[in-house]
Amino acid sequence: MRADPNTQTKETVVPSLPIPARIELKVNGVTRALEVAPWTTLLDALHNYLDLTGTKKGCDHGQCGACTVLLDGKRVNSCLTLAIMKDGSEVTTIEGLSSADRLDPLQQAFIDHDAFQCGYCTPGQICSAVGMMRECHAKTADDIRELMSGNICRCGAYVNILAAIEEVLGKKREVRP
Ligand code: FES
Ligand code: FES
Repeated sequence: MRADPNTQTKETVVPSLPIPARIELKVNGVTRALEVAPWTTLLDALHNYLDLTGTKKGCDHGQCGACTVLLDGKRVNSCLTLAIMKDGSEVTTIEGLSSADRLDPLQQAFIDHDAFQCGYCTPGQICSAVGMMRECHAKTADDIRELMSGNICRCGAYVNILAAIEEVLGKKREVRP
């Protein structure tokens, strides 16, 4: 015979919360220590712990590229990257590309070519373009279109974005031996 559940002593079950992890990231040249929950994305860590809001959250699902940063020199979607897994890594965000008195050449080219409208996708576009150039696979305009296809611009500024990237890529080729 089954015991009446109403007459049994009930135990309160308290779910144990995961302990935040202490990690260090070198962000834009400065080592930062932070305590993050295991589920904190790199994007949220930048926004909520480090007040670096230049990197944008678009879809939060790896589909728009607005959150692109450079992680150990390579472009990644920070919304798909868990901060806890990148302890000790080096992160460069849009804020870290320029110095006090000089914009990164791509930032300048985006201005010169009017390569944005609302500007929401722009930090991701620029970080992605920096990473793409380091990969050295872009030889033609079609290559650039293909290799930048993970970065969506809802304003449709693609023609100007392409022109800005082509200009910087062309100058880089000129200085190569
Ligand atoms: Fe990360 Fe869209 S916010 S890809
Ligand atoms: Fe508005 Fe690209 S400039 S989304």
